[in-house]
Amino acid sequence: MNMTRLLHPDVPERPAGVPVTTPVYQTSTYELPRTPEAAQIASAVAPVGYYTRYGSPNAAEAEAMLAGLDGAERALLLGSGMAAVSAALLSNVRAGSRVVAQTNHYTAALTLLRDVLPTFGVSVRLVPQESLPSSIDDSVDVVYTETPVNPAMVLTDLEAVRAAAPKALLVVDNTFATPYNTRPLELGADLVVQSATKYLNGHSDVTAGVVTGRAELIDRAWETARVLGPVCHPFEAWLLARGLRTFPLRMARHNANGLAVAAALQAHPRVAAVHYPGLPTHPQYALAQRQMTGFGGMLAFTVASPEAAQSVLRHTGLARNAVSLGGTETLITHPASLIFAHGGTSDTVDASLLRVSVGLEEPEDIIADLTGALDRL
Ligand SMILES: Cc1ncc(COP(=O)(O)O)c(C=O)c1O
Repeated sequence: MNMTRLLHPDVPERPAGVPVTTPVYQTSTYELPRTPEAAQIASAVAPVGYYTRYGSPNAAEAEAMLAGLDGAERALLLGSGMAAVSAALLSNVRAGSRVVAQTNHYTAALTLLRDVLPTFGVSVRLVPQESLPSSIDDSVDVVYTETPVNPAMVLTDLEAVRAAAPKALLVVDNTFATPYNTRPLELGADLVVQSATKYLNGHSDVTAGVVTGRAELIDRAWETARVLGPVCHPFEAWLLARGLRTFPLRMARHNANGLAVAAALQAHPRVAAVHYPGLPTHPQYALAQRQMTGFGGMLAFTVASPEAAQSVLRHTGLARNAVSLGGTETLITHPASLIFAHGGTSDTVDASLLRVSVGLEEPEDIIADLTGALDRL
């Protein structure tokens, strides 16, 4: 058995035509030109044909699409939403930096802010989300916010935050709204982070994250990510680019289905409250009208008791009990159970609350499934 021949076969000629879709560059490294300049590629920013931890043609394709969606100069694609949150924050703080964020964030982001950053000497102040604008001024270095927040669907007034601290670096987690419904860079944000695992990919088959913003900030985030190493691998990037091609079409349907399901839940006698920014009963409806152009497929609702919430969870069929969101299929979760299961003691999440990621099914089927489970209470 000849190992050399096995590793260096006579490869047939490459096809003359150019593939219509970008092939998956499933390689960890690239053969470089044998010139002195080639060495300089190593220090260039985000080279796409050098080493896959530095970038890949598939990541570059998805990044071009993502930057375009956000109206950003550049995008940095990483291996998860949390990699994007971490790169955005870690590349902009050092010992002594002052960060202000919310008491209620997606749980892993809250852990990073509350438990991890302070171990490096970063001062993090967590304030109630609604009072974020009145809790900051220009003595703050970084403001980190998430709107609408997971799972309570509370909004942050981004223009008010920007006005209160014009010089602070404003980082916005736009995972729930997506650029289809909220455009943070146009409202004053410096960096946008998103879990591309959710609506951007949209098919529940990829874990990825993205940071968008000005080129100089993205370069800095890339330097941090290059060292920490949370790569979005070529096949995941390829799948994401595939999912992104239908992003606006999917979001239009998520918006329509979300509103229809929210209205149907609100009309059900067993539902105590529905949290959906597109409903006039949302306490921040006026802000939602101003800041969002649609309201997405995420909603939360409360029933009479934690036991009633568990009963609804047991009796839905179409809506499957699973974490994550933003896929084609409707998912339902009981956030309080998940927080307790992870050792949390947060009393910020109501144990009578259920979160729904409204999918792309026929709206009447989603409504029949949820109201059927509610009818059994
Ligand atoms: C609002 C929000 N931000 C960030 C993340 C983290 O994303 P990922 O799971 O892709 O790391 C999530 C995950 O659910 C989220 O809901």
